[in-house]
Amino acid sequence: MASAFLHPFAKPTKSDFITLVRGQGAVVYDDRGNEYVDGMASLWYCAVGHGRSDIADAIGRQARTLAAYSTFDPFTNAPAEQLAEVLVDIAPMADSRVFFTSSGSEAVDTAMKLSRLAHIQAGHPERTLIISRQRGYHGTAYGGTSAQGIAPNREGYAPYVGDVVQVPADDVEALASLMSERASTIAAVLVEPIQGAGGVFPPSEGYLESVRRLCDQHGAHLIYDEVISGFGRLGHWFAAHRYGVRPDMVTFAKAVTSGYQPLGGESEGDHLTPIPQLVGAIGRHVQKIGDHLERNGKSQFVDEFESAACRRTIEDSIDQLHDSWSESLDGGGSERLAYQATQSSVVRRVEVENGLGAVATAPPVSLGARQGVGGLVGVGLDVTTEVVAAQGVRDVFVTRENDGVSGAVHGIVLA
Ligand SMILES: Cc1ncc(COP(=O)(O)O)c(C=O)c1O
Repeated sequence: MASAFLHPFAKPTKSDFITLVRGQGAVVYDDRGNEYVDGMASLWYCAVGHGRSDIADAIGRQARTLAAYSTFDPFTNAPAEQLAEVLVDIAPMADSRVFFTSSGSEAVDTAMKLSRLAHIQAGHPERTLIISRQRGYHGTAYGGTSAQGIAPNREGYAPYVGDVVQVPADDVEALASLMSERASTIAAVLVEPIQGAGGVFPPSEGYLESVRRLCDQHGAHLIYDEVISGFGRLGHWFAAHRYGVRPDMVTFAKAVTSGYQPLGGESEGDHLTPIPQLVGAIGRHVQKIGDHLERNGKSQFVDEFESAACRRTIEDSIDQLHDSWSESLDGGGSERLAYQATQSSVVRRVEVENGLGAVATAPPVSLGARQGVGGLVGVGLDVTTEVVAAQGVRDVFVTRENDGVSGAVHGIVLA
């Protein structure tokens, strides 16, 4: 019988879940003593590895001091201020500022709202269109649900947020033509620089440069949804650094705390008009932003980890990523399978590769192309079922047909 707990992205009637009890580094354990290499870093977030007692201690210390407090006017706290400074230092935009949320989904909704608000503040209330990409995943709140390009994730939830439209994922012409048609009514183009949850799809050659050019041409904001690509997954702080194309806003979450605390946010820079007005708008219209973003500033638990230790652990993670992935980062050799950057990751990679070998030799499954960058890699499988059981493999999570890539795997857990 199904338990009282309703799981996301699962049939409500399902009752046989894997009960995880412990994690250490790149490995998690279930209640039957099985060990799993965490190929996906849980849900793309545990960049610094499981079982970090230094982080747990920092959280405990902060919880005993002041566990949480609203940051609505007139309140602030040192950890939140410090973390914002750290994030501004590593942001891909100059002179950025940071707005905190509690998840990636809220970060995306916040960016969409702030883009529209910035245009209003700049005297262009007609700029409301938000363009996103097919195959894109932008979380589960209504803005992100409306913006996302994975049909099953939208079905049943209409009507959506208005004036949010998808274009084919890598089709510059389709984007250019929609942008010419809607020229002065566009607020923003929202993209994952490398698509993740929809199957791992790096941008086609020159795509991000073209999107940047079109945004500049039409006065639209370019929002990068870096909820999974941020904080070292591609071997750089952000995908924006990896691809050398700057956005106007970045959404982040997940690896900012490696999941030890729920935290997300949005950074915006001052590069493109009317972004300077946006920064001004935040200062002048706090109440309005407070009204619009009601939930986002509340009850933020921003602890020591998220300030001092955050930087250290992320830097460690980036160093390790550089070591582990130097071949792919240098552009040479084949890409490696995704797994998180931990001390044990190099050893674990061999296990992951061996596990994949087991999948490949277990009919009817055969491996297709690997695609991705750094620590964000998918492996095509020549299967059409959602879940494949094969020798040496406990579960392989498979997405359905995605632009002709049949059964692209975006995460595996090996027994
Ligand atoms: C690109 C992207 N944006 C937003 C989200 C939503 O983040 P969260 O699960 O923290 O709400 C995700 C989650 O996987 C994501 O991959």
